[in-house]
Amino acid sequence: MIGLGTLAAGGIAALAWALQPAIAPIKTTTHNAQLVSQGQRIVALGDCMVCHSSATGLPYAGGLPLRTPFGTIYSTNITPDPETGIGAWSLEAFRRAVRHGISRDGHLLYPAFPYIHYTRMTDQDIEAAYAYLMSRTPVRYTPPTNELLLPLRFRPSLAFWNLLYLHPGEEPAAAVATDSDRQIARGRYLVDSLGHCASCHTELNPIGGESKTLLGGGSVDGWEAPALTTLVGAKVPWTAKQLENYLRTGLSAEHGAAKGPMRAVTERLSEVPREDVQAIASYIMSVQLPHPAPLQPAIPSQLHTTEGATLFAAACASCHSASAPMSTTGKRPSLALSHSVVGDNPANLIQTMLGGAPWVTQSAVYMPPFADVLTDEQIVSIAQYVRVDIGKRPPWPELSSKVAQARKEIHP
Ligand code: HEC
Ligand code: HEC
Ligand code: HEC
Repeated sequence: MIGLGTLAAGGIAALAWALQPAIAPIKTTTHNAQLVSQGQRIVALGDCMVCHSSATGLPYAGGLPLRTPFGTIYSTNITPDPETGIGAWSLEAFRRAVRHGISRDGHLLYPAFPYIHYTRMTDQDIEAAYAYLMSRTPVRYTPPTNELLLPLRFRPSLAFWNLLYLHPGEEPAAAVATDSDRQIARGRYLVDSLGHCASCHTELNPIGGESKTLLGGGSVDGWEAPALTTLVGAKVPWTAKQLENYLRTGLSAEHGAAKGPMRAVTERLSEVPREDVQAIASYIMSVQLPHPAPLQPAIPSQLHTTEGATLFAAACASCHSASAPMSTTGKRPSLALSHSVVGDNPANLIQTMLGGAPWVTQSAVYMPPFADVLTDEQIVSIAQYVRVDIGKRPPWPELSSKVAQARKEIHP
């Protein structure tokens, strides 16, 4: 039981938190070329552009709708336009936003902006990100108004949430004895703070807080973001090298391609120095659970799903059969290796079938969307065929309702 006293103290602390002063606007900033170039790396590692690009693709102008269970939040304009962007923000105001989720005028920001992770950034990285953003082309643009459930339109209510989930402050320095320790510590910093990997790869509770099983798997926009702690339990156990390749190129020859929301993450990681990606991979390998549950094989009577086989031959085999040019000359991995096929959650296979996979840079391969071509029943039969006959795993339960739901939510 929480005592009344604790509750009252919490209430007062939250109230105090909700009342934040505005930070005075500034007129001009100076650019330090070295900081600007460091900032480019920080902003790429932090995926800032992914969320802050406008619907028309203008970098950092904001306006991208982020759908949450509580409604739609639009990202803000973080170009240096003084009226509609952050042109009048001092470094101090920017640092407060990143560390505490507070806007320059004092209003609390929604945690759709992953400040609970960015709060761990070092001062130096925050300063570099600021320098970089302030040197971009100003764009005059005001994003649409948020469409949120009534209680959440009242921003001070976020103070309670912050009390629970925001632990402000830089990542504490880890004790390092060897080069390998140093690499893992760097990787942890990048994963926890800038990479905010947990914001997708950790399950969220009903009020949007991250659960205790860090990196134990989560979901985002109808996609499954698989557990990152059981990668050694995959059909081909992941190695640090394979992980590094996947994160830098969006493809692992032993596992598959980065799809959906992961694609933008790998595109940004392709722009940062290799040592940063190596560090991320070493850290992820260092948090693997010792004995991930083995994958249960399909039993022979489940094999040979005929209807799905026929449809697969017609719609998919031209690219995905072992003899298709995409597999032979394109060297794309077999579907039997993909987590979207052998994992326990059908979400990513359904998403890929409905929405396709965009052009993969430098390899001229692409998967068309099938949402308008196949009925729900056909998608279910193909998916079960891919799962059982190709992936050699038992059929997915309740697949029909999941396909119908995905279509309703994401591809209406
Ligand atoms: C997952 C999406 C996402 C990512 C990634 C992201 N942001 Fe944001 N950011 C948002 C949203 C949404 C808001 C608006 C929140 C609100 O209005 O309460 C926001 C708000 C902000 C604000 C406050 C602007 C204002 O006018 O109050 C700043 C500053 C900011 N982000 C900087 C960054 C930086 C720097 C990065 C990269 C290190 C970054 N953001 C990455 C979604 C994101
Ligand atoms: C025109 C070629 C093409 C066709 C037709 C096609 N795909 Fe794909 N598919 C791709 C490409 C390209 C990717 C991205 C992965 C890659 O680049 O290797 C992909 C990815 C996938 C993945 C994810 C694999 C991974 O890497 O994790 C699945 C599952 C999948 N396709 C299933 C299907 C099914 C089922 C059909 C038939 C309904 C189909 N595809 C039809 C080209 C195709
Ligand atoms: C915006 C949400 C998001 C963020 C942030 C994100 N991921 Fe992902 N990630 C996903 C989704 C969704 C998938 C599944 C899609 C797929 O496999 O193609 C995925 C897939 C992966 C996979 C493949 C897993 C498997 O079993 O096939 C790895 C590895 C991975 N992510 C690592 C990372 C790391 C490391 C970070 C931080 C640097 C990160 N992700 C940040 C959403 C995200």
